[in-house]
Amino acid sequence: MKIGIFDSGLGGLIIAKAIRQHTTQPDMIYFGDTLHIPYGNRSAEAIYAYSCRAMDYFFKVHDCALVVVACNTVSACALRRLQQEYLVENFPERRILGVIVPTLECAIEHGYKNIGLIGTNRTILSNIFEEEIQKINPDITMQQINTPLLVPLIENEGMPWIDDVLEHYLAPLLEKDIECLILGCTHYAFLKERIAKILDKKIVILSQDEIIPGKLEDYLSRHSEIADKVSMNGTINFYVSDITPGYISASEKIYGDKINIQKSVLCAKENKYL
Ligand code: DGL
Repeated sequence: MKIGIFDSGLGGLIIAKAIRQHTTQPDMIYFGDTLHIPYGNRSAEAIYAYSCRAMDYFFKVHDCALVVVACNTVSACALRRLQQEYLVENFPERRILGVIVPTLECAIEHGYKNIGLIGTNRTILSNIFEEEIQKINPDITMQQINTPLLVPLIENEGMPWIDDVLEHYLAPLLEKDIECLILGCTHYAFLKERIAKILDKKIVILSQDEIIPGKLEDYLSRHSEIADKVSMNGTINFYVSDITPGYISASEKIYGDKINIQKSVLCAKENKYL
């Protein structure tokens, strides 16, 4: 069986690549819901509905044992329901993991006490990073900024404008004395170097492509009931729900390599979009 990697679009490709380069090399299915991106400005209801259809695709069509929700917006707004309702009702033997708690664990392991966070509107509005960190250590403070223009710029060849937008977004954080900045959106790993140029050198950037592969490996080492089902040949197949020439070029820039992206069709007979 395979591991599914789910994102609202193409940003999760960075996470998929990082997992592939890690020592454990599971067979993977990548699915980006490019038909509905950006999720970050949608309602929690819509995000849950899209996510359920994506899970059907991973579990019913590709028979995945486990899905990693690389998308922070989905992890923030829909993960709990996916685990407690969708999985329980449909696939109680399978697992869905998110990226928020592993990212916070990493910040805590490093001992940071004042943490910066950037993310989509929906992720920041959910306040889930702060809620989760408060459960673990109420002394840790979090400075959050929503940065909604970054994803549309990355997915639509808007890089010439991105430095100005980043400077505008990050300016308030520079006055908050943060020790690290969590890039709380799959796509932002693509901006790591640009963000580092704007931030003070002492602020450490926590990027999920450097965190999630190790956390996934750790999870698999502790859950042999799932790990034993996953085949380890290092293959990966890429699917999106809508495909355009712009998406193909953006995906190759983000992934850093030529890749074969196919359109996913949940029900080929009726040619329904997923
Ligand atoms: N992939 C999403 C995340 O990590 C952001 C993109 C979107 O708005 O759909 O939050």
